[in-house]
This record gives sequence, structure tokens and C-alpha cells, in this order.
Amino acid sequence: MKRTIGQTDLNVGAIGLGCMGLSAFYGAPTEEREAIALLHKAVDYGVEHFDTAEMYGPHTNETLLGKAFSGMRDKVRIATKFGILSPAGPSQPGGLDGSPANCRRSVEGSLTRLKTDFIDLYYLHRLDPNTPVEETVGAMAELVREGKVGAIGLSEVSGETLRRAAKVHPIAAVQSEYSIFTRGIENTLFPALKDLGTSLVAYSPLGRGMLAGAFQNGRTLDEGDWRSVGAPRFHGENFDANRALAAEVIALADEKGVAPSQVALAWVLAQGEHIVSIPGTTKLANLEANLGAYDVTLTGEDLDRLATIADRVAGNRYSDLGMRLVDA
Ligand code: ATR
Repeated sequence: MKRTIGQTDLNVGAIGLGCMGLSAFYGAPTEEREAIALLHKAVDYGVEHFDTAEMYGPHTNETLLGKAFSGMRDKVRIATKFGILSPAGPSQPGGLDGSPANCRRSVEGSLTRLKTDFIDLYYLHRLDPNTPVEETVGAMAELVREGKVGAIGLSEVSGETLRRAAKVHPIAAVQSEYSIFTRGIENTLFPALKDLGTSLVAYSPLGRGMLAGAFQNGRTLDEGDWRSVGAPRFHGENFDANRALAAEVIALADEKGVAPSQVALAWVLAQGEHIVSIPGTTKLANLEANLGAYDVTLTGEDLDRLATIADRVAGNRYSDLGMRLVDA
């Protein structure tokens, strides 16, 4: 299933690969050789859309993709992001900088690490409250004119911000969290996406693993896993309540004879032609399972069964600190 991103000629499989977890946030990084093997397998399986960011690592995830894809650049579409500064230390979170100067500085670093002269889709990672979005997008549009960037995206922005940005340059995609668990943007962002012909790139479509059943067997988060501090849905009573909701998805998957992750991804893709998804995985078996979602169709009855889950999810998707970075 191919879909076109925004108003561009970026026509990609609707299931891409979110690469963050290979290098950062979800426990220990995957060993480099194994990570590169996974990325190459993904290409063999026809995955085209690979998503990274300057701040994943920071830098190490882009470097990984650069190593993996040099020599096969024409087979992949690379999306990366700028605008979140590296933390000065563990207790000093990085700030936001969407200034034109930082945009220019960042893109050069990303191009070098990615070992390429072209980024297919370049995002502002989070809206910088101190830089009007028009200024940021103006600087990104220069990169398009210079041939360094193919298309422009924004991440976690409101419909209003998207509408302002699109007056400066077409915005091909907004990347936001979207899943059976997380549907807040349907009312706030979707109307603007539709009006402007902008695509949604749905991240965390598996509820950061929970909707894929990754935590049903008593597994807890490894030490150092960001979710144990940054994702309240994984904390204490919320964790138990949300696993009970994931069990509803798993029951449906069992009845259909498919994997839970396939139900979660088929659900996301069934919400509109304007949506593509970038599930993350570090494991070949999970990558294969996730791509199997192309063959799964949800009936109206299936969709009805899943419709109220988001209303019952316990806990915010980010800690207060993370929620403050979201433009809503
Ligand atoms: P994100 O966009 O933040 O990466 P996600 O795509 O919703 O979040 O979920 C990613 C998580 O789901 C990862 O922890 C991943 O773990 P592995 O690296 O061990 O695969 C997990 N995950 C992905 N696909 C899965 C699958 N098919 N079965 C079980 N867990 C899966």
C-alpha cells in the first residue's frame, strides 16, 4: 500500500520505520552491526521511509543511518528533524531553537552524518515559542530552493500553527503521535491537514509497544529506558490499566488470527488516505510482523470495538516537561 506524502512526489509504503529506538530512549542502543542488518533487511522488504532526528542519540541515530544507507541512497527516503537542542547534562533538558541560524547549522550536521547531499523530508521537531513559525519555515524553504531538502514537515504542532506555516511554504507532513491509544489530534489537527493537503506521519502507532503486546507477559522496562521517566502511561497503576486496554486489542487480534501490532497499524492506516505510519522496532521478527499489517483489514465491527479505547487510556502521553514542548 503506497501513499503520497502531502503535495510532493514522495510516494512511499504506508508503513515506514521509526529508527529512534535503535539508538536512544528505549533502553540500550542496538549493537551497530545488528542495527545495520535490520535496516538493510527493511530495505529488502520494500520499506522506503526511514525516520530519524538530530536529537536521537543525539546524532548517533543519523550517523547509523548514514553508515547503513551510503551506497544505497537511491533506495530510501530519509526524514530527519531539527530544533531540539542537546541537553547540557542529565538534569538540564535541551531547549528549543527554531531560529533560521540553527536551522542552517543543523541541516549541515545532518547531511554530514547521513552521508548525503539531500534530505527527503526535513521537520521542525518541536515549535520554538521564541521563533515565529513563519521565520522557521522561511529558513526551511531556502533549503528546498537550494536543493538540500525535498519537502518540509512540522512535528507536534496545532492546526493553527500548521495553517500559519503553510502560508509561507507548502507543509508536506505533520508528524504527531497517533494510535488506538492517542486520538486527540482528530478534532484539532485533522481539519487543517485536510484543508491543506498535508499528510500525517503517525509516530508511536503501537503505543510505544503496549498495543503490540510487548508488555503483556509481565515484562517491565529496562533500567535507563526513557519511558520509565518520560511516559506516564507506563507508570504504576496507569501501566496496569493500559495493559488491560491493550488486552482488548490483543483479544481482537487473536480472534482474527493476526498479530496485535497488525491490528494497531491497520487501525491507523484505516483512519484516512492522508496517513502514513512509522512504527519503531529493533527486531527483525517484529519488523516482519508489522509489515504484515498490509494484509490485515479491519471490519466496521472491528473498528467499533476499538473506538472507545483512547477515551479510557490512563495517564498523559508525556511527562509535564514533555507536554510543555507540544504545541496544542
Ligand atoms: P515509537 O514510534 O516511539 O518507536 P511505537 O512504534 O509505537 O513507538 O512502538 C515501538 C515499541 O514497540 C518498541 O519498544 C518495540 O520494541 P522492539 O524494538 O523490541 O521491537 C515495540 N514493538 C515494535 N513492533 C513490535 C511487535 N511486532 N511486537 C512487539 N513489540 C513491538
